[in-house]
Amino acid sequence: MTQSTNAGASQEAIEFHYDMPADFFALWLGESMTYTAARYAEPGMSMDEAQLNKINYHLDSARVSEGGRMLDIGCGWGTLLKTAVTKRGAAAAHGLTLSPLQNKYITGLGIPNVSAELKSYEDYEPDAPFSSIVSVGAFEHFVQPESTKEERHDTYSALFERVARWLEPGGQFSLQTMAWGDANATERNLIKIHDIFPESDLPEIAEVIHSAHPYLELVTMENRPQDYGDTLAAWADGLKANKDRAIKIVGPERYKFFLDSCKGGALLYRRRRFYLCRFVFKHRGR
Ligand SMILES: C[S@@+](CC[C@H](N)C(=O)[O-])C[C@H]1O[C@@H](n2cnc3c(N)ncnc32)[C@H](O)[C@@H]1O
Repeated sequence: MTQSTNAGASQEAIEFHYDMPADFFALWLGESMTYTAARYAEPGMSMDEAQLNKINYHLDSARVSEGGRMLDIGCGWGTLLKTAVTKRGAAAAHGLTLSPLQNKYITGLGIPNVSAELKSYEDYEPDAPFSSIVSVGAFEHFVQPESTKEERHDTYSALFERVARWLEPGGQFSLQTMAWGDANATERNLIKIHDIFPESDLPEIAEVIHSAHPYLELVTMENRPQDYGDTLAAWADGLKANKDRAIKIVGPERYKFFLDSCKGGALLYRRRRFYLCRFVFKHRGR
């Protein structure tokens, strides 16, 4: 257990959702083994194609290239790390996760120049700057439901200050996160995001932009809620198709938890209660 006073979800809270065997997630996440919204760039794309499109989108947006060094904040099972090194020729790709099983999984892959550690970004300090930083689906865990408006701003600002400090001049940061969409206070209370992601709350789009502005230049931003609606629907189909095997690994209660989360989430995205945002930021130095 890492000792920390993190502003966001603790390691225990992250373990509640993510620390299931990789075999379970592999049944329904598809070839990419990524647990975040795919990017359905063209009509008729399969989930696997859309996931690959998302991976390439982030590697392009963060300008991952031959000989570069990439950091992935919230690296999951390491797909972006692996792709950065094996397909883009990055010299090193390092990931941070709060899930012991994810950390073990990546280490077990034994891919040269790919590394991970069990550490919050809040307790991390690199030895040398990175040319590229990515963070896909972790920002949702960086503040807690009880955090005040000021605490949220301070936490998000501190993240962007770190990213700016960890990037080489001109380096880019590709960030994907869910955000609150068209939902009033009553609806937000009913949705209870923390029942699915304990100790976690979503950002507002404006909070991301305001807290980043003093540290990084915003290059592009897109909001594509349907990307997550379609991904969650595909995951629910995958879970149903593999029901027996999934229950064998995690038991009926956890199976139901994940299936209900996917089905409920798909509906909320279709109703635009949640947004799915991708921001690209640039280090201000030349
Ligand atoms: C939804 S998963 C996304 C994983 C991966 N990026 C993907 O696209 O599949 C969220 C990830 O964020 C990590 N995470 C959450 N809070 C974190 C923190 N404070 N520092 C580092 N990683 C964190 C979790 O351990 C997990 O790996």
